[in-house]
Amino acid sequence: MEQNSIKREEWNSKLGFILASVGSAVGLGNLWGFAYSSSEGGGAAFVILYIFVVLIVCFPIFVAEFALGRTTKVSAFLAPIKAAGNNWAPLGWLFIIAPIAIASYYAVVMSWTGEVFIMSIFDNLPKNAKESANFFKYISEGNHVFIGQIFSLGLGSYIVSGGIKKGIEKLNLICMPILFAILFILVIWAAFLGKAGEGYNNLFLNFDIKQLTNPTNIRLAFSQAFFSLSLGIGIMVTYASYLDKKSNLPKQAVQISLLDTIVGLMAGLITFPIIYTFNMSSSIKESTIGTLFTTIPTGLGEYGSLGRLMAVLFFGLAYLAAITSMVSLLEIPVSTLIDKFDIKRKYASIYSFILIFIIGIPSVRNISFLDNLDAMAKTLLIGGGFLVAFLMGWVLPRSLETELENSGSSLKTKYYLKFMLRYITPVLVAWGFIISLYDLVNKFSS
Ligand code: PHE
Repeated sequence: MEQNSIKREEWNSKLGFILASVGSAVGLGNLWGFAYSSSEGGGAAFVILYIFVVLIVCFPIFVAEFALGRTTKVSAFLAPIKAAGNNWAPLGWLFIIAPIAIASYYAVVMSWTGEVFIMSIFDNLPKNAKESANFFKYISEGNHVFIGQIFSLGLGSYIVSGGIKKGIEKLNLICMPILFAILFILVIWAAFLGKAGEGYNNLFLNFDIKQLTNPTNIRLAFSQAFFSLSLGIGIMVTYASYLDKKSNLPKQAVQISLLDTIVGLMAGLITFPIIYTFNMSSSIKESTIGTLFTTIPTGLGEYGSLGRLMAVLFFGLAYLAAITSMVSLLEIPVSTLIDKFDIKRKYASIYSFILIFIIGIPSVRNISFLDNLDAMAKTLLIGGGFLVAFLMGWVLPRSLETELENSGSSLKTKYYLKFMLRYITPVLVAWGFIISLYDLVNKFSS
């Protein structure tokens, strides 16, 4: 096994590690995916399923990924092989294919986000429903999308080339507090909008019990939970490989999942009041990937200069959230190249940039391609989650135990996590994976 000849970098502080993980988790998925999935999946029924998946399924997997990263101290591609031998190479491959696929279209959505941000600064938002129809077409079609895609990938690669402490950690220490501040301002502002109450009702109270067993709703809850927490993809394995031996893994997993879920809910508290106040709810019913980029700008565009200021804040916030996620996606191929071929971080970043740019070209050109790749990649994450749970629960229970002991976990926590990772989590993820696959095949064949 190739090992980097110089000593592996470590996070500067516990806070830095937590903020970087929260930075990876909080992204466009929270601001766009959460509202989108809950409007597709029947409001409260989606929120309930989502929280169930986070607590029962994702939390143990979070700890499993952390444990795998910290015991092996290598990047996600190599970690399963180093821990459990060559039979586990497919999991390593999943850990490299999924982040490259997601980064390739994430950069495109970042390009749209950046463009709306700039358009809100220059007062070019749509002022009514008619203008809004052309607006999304304008930001998402044509060669100018490449500019935003290249800029976003380039910025991400530049930050990653700076390393863990001086690149990723520093970015998150600066961006995350700003992000939370903007989020608070927007939630408070949205609460005073005319139909804020109706928006909240539709997000939380519009409860249709049948939706709890609807396969599409189940797929959306699973895929949104894994995507939003950046799980099943090797990011938490890689981030934990830069962790010192002592930090408390279960505690940090709780903190990160909690913050991520709070941000998802807060985003709903912003987007739903806007959507209902400006009578955009019909467009959210036939929700597509572009909804966020039409309803929110149109609603705010109609609202004069205060609306415009809020649009600047909202899309600025979305871009900040996205860049901290993008660096985590890029860190996977970059750290793999460094660990496997012992090359310099700078070159690993350049190669990753070029590769992902090329793979992203079809997503720039074709939104249904992007949409399908998104649905497939998210289902892959659920499969990744199953394999990690199985690996740590059944193949490497000793390593899991050691990592929990190093974390200073209580006996109760240890038994709970071991029990979950052996008997409960794998069964539930397998169930979620099969339903998601079935629903996905239906989606593609309809
Ligand atoms: N969690 C990020 C979001 O919610 C996206 C992401 C997914 C980032 C998977 C890394 C890995 O937008």
